[in-house]
Amino acid sequence: MKVLHGISLKVMPGEIVCLIGPNGAGKTTLLRTISGLNRATSGTIRFKGEDVVGLKPHQMVRRGVGHCPEGRRVFQLSVEENLVTGYIAGRGKSFAELRDQVYRLFPILGERRHQSAGRLSGGQQQMVAIGRALMGSPELLLLDEPSLGLAPIIIHQIFEIVLKLAESGVSIILVEQNIDLSFEVADFVYALEHGALQCSGPAAKIAADPRIKDIYLPGLDSHGAQ
Ligand SMILES: Nc1ncnc2c1ncn2[C@@H]1O[C@H](COP(=O)(O)OP(=O)(O)OP(=O)(O)O)[C@@H](O)[C@H]1O
Ligand SMILES: [Mg+2]
Repeated sequence: MKVLHGISLKVMPGEIVCLIGPNGAGKTTLLRTISGLNRATSGTIRFKGEDVVGLKPHQMVRRGVGHCPEGRRVFQLSVEENLVTGYIAGRGKSFAELRDQVYRLFPILGERRHQSAGRLSGGQQQMVAIGRALMGSPELLLLDEPSLGLAPIIIHQIFEIVLKLAESGVSIILVEQNIDLSFEVADFVYALEHGALQCSGPAAKIAADPRIKDIYLPGLDSHGAQ
C-alpha cells in the first residue's frame, strides 16, 4: 500500500528536523523508509550525496544511519547486551569506546548495565533504545517518538541529550507528537497529514502557521476555546 506521497525532506549535519503529524500521518513509515525497513516504490533517498534507495537496514546502519524505533523495542537482555546488539564494527570506534560514551550520556544505564532492560522504567528503556542506536556511531539518527508516555522531567533529560548529539554534529530526524517540544528543539519542522507534507519550514515560522492549528486542533478558535 502506498502510504507516503511526494514528500521532500532534507537534513544537514548537526540539524534537528522534527516530523509532526497526527496518528496515521505516515511519520513512522517515513523513518522506516529512510532506514531501509520499508521499501520506497518511487522517489530518491540520498545520504551524504549517494543514492541509497533499496539498501537494506544493515547496509544503512553501516553507512551511519541509526534508527531508534517507535515503542523502544528493547530486547529482553541486560542493558549492556542491548548495546552489544547495536554495535557496528568498522565505523571507527571500538565497542568499549561507544559503550562508555553511552554511559557518560546516560549514567543511570551504566549503573544498571547488568539489569534486564525489560524491567527498567519507560524512560530508562528509551535511553537504552537511544544508546543502542548510538552504538552504530550514527551520522544521522532517526528517533521515533522518544517522549511517548514519559514524565516531563525524563523527557527533558532525553531532549538535553538529543540537543547535545546535534551539537556534536549528528543530524537528527525526530518524530514527535508533542508539538510544543518539537518547536522548542527543532531547526526545521515538517508537518505530515495523510502521508503528504502539509507545511514545512523553520520551527519559529511553522509554530505560527495557522495550518498547524487546523491539523492538530480542529474546532479550536484563536482563544483556545472549543
Ligand atoms: N505495515 C503496514 N501495512 C499497511 N498499512 C500500514 C502499515 N504500516 C502503517 N500502515 C498505514 O500507513 C499509514 C501511516 O502509518 P504510520 O505508522 O507511518 O503513521 P504515524 O504517523 O507514525 O502514526 P502514529 O502517530 O500513530 O505513530 C496508516 O494509515 C497506517 O494504517
Ligand atoms: Mg508512528
